[in-house]
Amino acid sequence: MRTVEWRGKPVWILKRTPEMVASLKKTEGKVADADSKRNPDEYTPEYCRNQNRSIKPEILVAVGICTHLGCSPSSKFTPGPQPSLPDDWEGGFLCPCHGSTFDMAGRVYKNKPAPDNLQVPRHMYLGDTKLVIGKDEKGEA
Ligand code: FES
Repeated sequence: MRTVEWRGKPVWILKRTPEMVASLKKTEGKVADADSKRNPDEYTPEYCRNQNRSIKPEILVAVGICTHLGCSPSSKFTPGPQPSLPDDWEGGFLCPCHGSTFDMAGRVYKNKPAPDNLQVPRHMYLGDTKLVIGKDEKGEA
């Protein structure tokens, strides 16, 4: 996972494995806002309101700031039981501040303090290898 800065915020660019992408089917019923309908204009551009929350299924672009009180969630990509996480953990992110958990698409689990999914900033690809953050066909964020 790479982290870049955009408007003073950390933005994660994560190339998900096929297993990580497949995990999003399993977390579908466990997350609070599976279709990214809450505050969509603020948190999820229209072209990312899908199960992967991304343009390319394998690439997640998300702001690494918890939507509760702004802490930095940690990567917890290994599935399975481990401290602070449920036994059926599928991989994702854990905010250590108050225990919010997010799946591999940054979707917040149900009954957690964070009210929204992690923000997906506007972004677009220029060709196969160039990613622009903060801007899309509709303009700048
Ligand atoms: S800041 Fe993330 S759970 Fe409170």
